[in-house]
Amino acid sequence: MAQRVRKAVLPVAGLGTRFLPATKVIPKEMIPVVDKPVVQYAVEEARAAGIEEFIFVSAEGKEAIAAHFSAQEVLEKSLEAKNKTAELKLVRDASLAPGNMQLVIQGEPLGLGHAVWCAKELVGREPFAVILPDDMVLARTSCMKQLIDAHAKVGGHVVAVEDVPRDQTSRYGILDVASDDGKLASARGLVEKPQPEKAPSTLAIIGRYVLDPSVFDELDKHTRGAGNEIQLTDALNKTIARTPFHGLRFEGKRYDCGTRVGFVEANVAFALANPDLAPRLKPLLARLMG
Ligand code: G1P
Repeated sequence: MAQRVRKAVLPVAGLGTRFLPATKVIPKEMIPVVDKPVVQYAVEEARAAGIEEFIFVSAEGKEAIAAHFSAQEVLEKSLEAKNKTAELKLVRDASLAPGNMQLVIQGEPLGLGHAVWCAKELVGREPFAVILPDDMVLARTSCMKQLIDAHAKVGGHVVAVEDVPRDQTSRYGILDVASDDGKLASARGLVEKPQPEKAPSTLAIIGRYVLDPSVFDELDKHTRGAGNEIQLTDALNKTIARTPFHGLRFEGKRYDCGTRVGFVEANVAFALANPDLAPRLKPLLARLMG
């Protein structure tokens, strides 16, 4: 029986240059999809999977993220005084208990592997989750819960995967598949952002991971990979001989909020999934398409 997953690492240090000028002052993770900041969806998904501790790997100038998950006394008192109970609940539900939120400053943008390595001391020697908030997943069962349930059965590293068109392999970590039952694929290797002709498959990692702490032994080496960055995929690849690696074809749909089109698509999809908004939105969308 695998050890329980209690901690999640959220890399949020990126500059969000693709979303300038929106991200000039506001961290990109704080930009809302419908009515909630992108990063809050990630936290809610993890909490729905039983995760209690959140480690944000952040950068200077992105203090709004930690503030968003902290109590806001002035706002809460004012809502209380006005008897705005529903609004007060929204504010409080977005808070993490002080002991459940940690912040690490990455300092230099050396890649996803480096961001995860920055959380090493706070994670310790136990399995942990990594969530990239840019990848949003609309699912009936929290995508992270699906991974943790799979991890409880197979242990090792378990990541969310999906099939991507071959011409897009250079955007993802790609699995070299050893066996595949259509839901869970075990990998004998991983390649970060291979060109389509060199990709060992079209099964791509999306931004949800449950990782064995052995990955830190490789991340400690600070080896540079694709784009001269310290890649999480490379570190995982090097542990594969001793730590089983599985990709889970999760149930749900992923939206890539790292691009402008994906971000707009996510807004529409999440609004259509909201029963308060969908009936009013559908005719408006039909009219726009007409
Ligand atoms: C990162 C990872 C990549 C993964 C992707 C998922 O890439 O390095 O392996 O497939 O996230 O979104 P990035 O999108 O940061 O370039």
